[in-house]
Amino acid sequence: MKSVNSPDKKRKRQEETIIILDFGSQYTQLIARRIRENKVFCEIIPFNQKVETYRYKNLKGIILSGGPSSVFDPNAPFCEPKVFKLGVPVLGICYGLQLIGKLFGGELERSKKREYGKAIIKINNREDLFSEVKDQTPVWMSHGDHLSGLPKGFEVLAHTENIPFAAIRDKEKKIFGLQFHPEVVHTQEGKKIIHNFIFHICKCEGTWTAESFIESSVSLIKDKVKNGKVILGLSGGVDSSVCAMLVHKAIGKQLNCIFVDNGLLRKNEAQEVISAFSDFDLNLICVDASKRFLDELKGVTDPEEKRKIIGKAFIDVFEEEAKKIKDVEFLAQGTLYPDVIESTSFKGPSATIKSHHNVGGLPEEMNLKLIEPLRELFKDEVREIGRRLKLPEKIIGRHPFPGPGLAVRILGEVTSDRLFILREADAIFIRELKESNLYDKIWQAFCVLLPVLSVGVMGDERTYENVIALRAVTSVDGMTADWAKLPYETLERISNRIINEVKGVNRVVFDVSSKPPATIEWE
Ligand code: XMP
Repeated sequence: MKSVNSPDKKRKRQEETIIILDFGSQYTQLIARRIRENKVFCEIIPFNQKVETYRYKNLKGIILSGGPSSVFDPNAPFCEPKVFKLGVPVLGICYGLQLIGKLFGGELERSKKREYGKAIIKINNREDLFSEVKDQTPVWMSHGDHLSGLPKGFEVLAHTENIPFAAIRDKEKKIFGLQFHPEVVHTQEGKKIIHNFIFHICKCEGTWTAESFIESSVSLIKDKVKNGKVILGLSGGVDSSVCAMLVHKAIGKQLNCIFVDNGLLRKNEAQEVISAFSDFDLNLICVDASKRFLDELKGVTDPEEKRKIIGKAFIDVFEEEAKKIKDVEFLAQGTLYPDVIESTSFKGPSATIKSHHNVGGLPEEMNLKLIEPLRELFKDEVREIGRRLKLPEKIIGRHPFPGPGLAVRILGEVTSDRLFILREADAIFIRELKESNLYDKIWQAFCVLLPVLSVGVMGDERTYENVIALRAVTSVDGMTADWAKLPYETLERISNRIINEVKGVNRVVFDVSSKPPATIEWE
């Protein structure tokens, strides 16, 4: 299914844009973040995308990312030389610098492997890229191949004790190169260097804001949809909620949202989602399919099988509901930028590998055109758009919740009794975190119901009951995570409350594993 607002359409992007040609660096997304923080739109495209296919009315600059390759490799990735003739400034970072060296006839010294480390650069010239940067400043240096002889027309802007050309430029051609990474926090004045590139060198104005994004998305959606009808699967998570608000702003009642209660939601979740949207005059269809999901999950204990059953049941229910709405042409989805990059960019050895498929993906056979208004945004940008669209903070700040819901937090068979226990325990955990002002500092927190019983004592009685595990992690993107160091007093209160208030639980444990090697969810 092709998205109707994917970037390769005939329409040219209007706003000022900096593009990053991705050579596979683990930091490519971070460069994009740093540029967008300056209110300049930035897009990551594959290093070998043909220049003829660029569709930018206001292209202001190009960045060549780092990457795991060496320019000495026989299959080293190269961009088209035309990239340097577009009349906009180019900045090569790390591998990008080496590529410039190679293409423009500089000398390169090969090193056996790429390593990173802190180094101090000394500035030779602070005319543009290093304007207002201190004489000596720490940077995150890549000790891979490096330039040992300047290409013709280039001059040195900064050096270190060991590297003569840590930063270079060809003033006339407006080509710049950095051996270090300005986008990572270890480069103390990295933000200033990026700011200098964007504003002093590329002459951007910084007009890309949440408001301008909303305005242009609304007009794009109106243009595409015209009088057509759109459906959207609303889960109550941030992405689908913001997507719904944006599409609703554009086309109002032509949008039909479908909320499927699969019976695997948290305590009061369905009511909370419905009430959060009740103020917005949204066409919202709520389907209570809990019995169907629970029936299909009967006797199933294998996590992957649970996922498959839930994924398929979701598609069936969604399709059945969608069919009831006549003449639907479009499907809106809250796909975010990291998912888009994952599927389009150059995959170097450092590329991340997703371990699971998002439940809720819909089949091609529905034959609908996709609308993905958030496909260019990062999560925090989506939250900002949500705030501007007046979505309640309760929805915006919600922890991520997996499509298969509590089914992957009940180890073993999912039954209504076990769902009840988990829901009650989870509600206590989350409420206590909110009351201690810890909820917003945590990426995700939840309870897991274990498939074992443990011995306890209550009064004079011996008990043999369920164990609840508490899981709380901090993370930036869910790809890696650290267990949250919750205060003992908070843990104590949560444990006491769960054991005293949730019938059937006599023991609470706290998960102290990080990802990797553990995952965030237990199944
Ligand atoms: P893991 O457990 O792989 O989770 O460390 C990373 C993030 O993904 C969520 N997750 C899922 N989301 N369907 C989803 O939509 C799934 O099957 C699924 N499994 C895990 C998890 O909650 C965390 O945010």
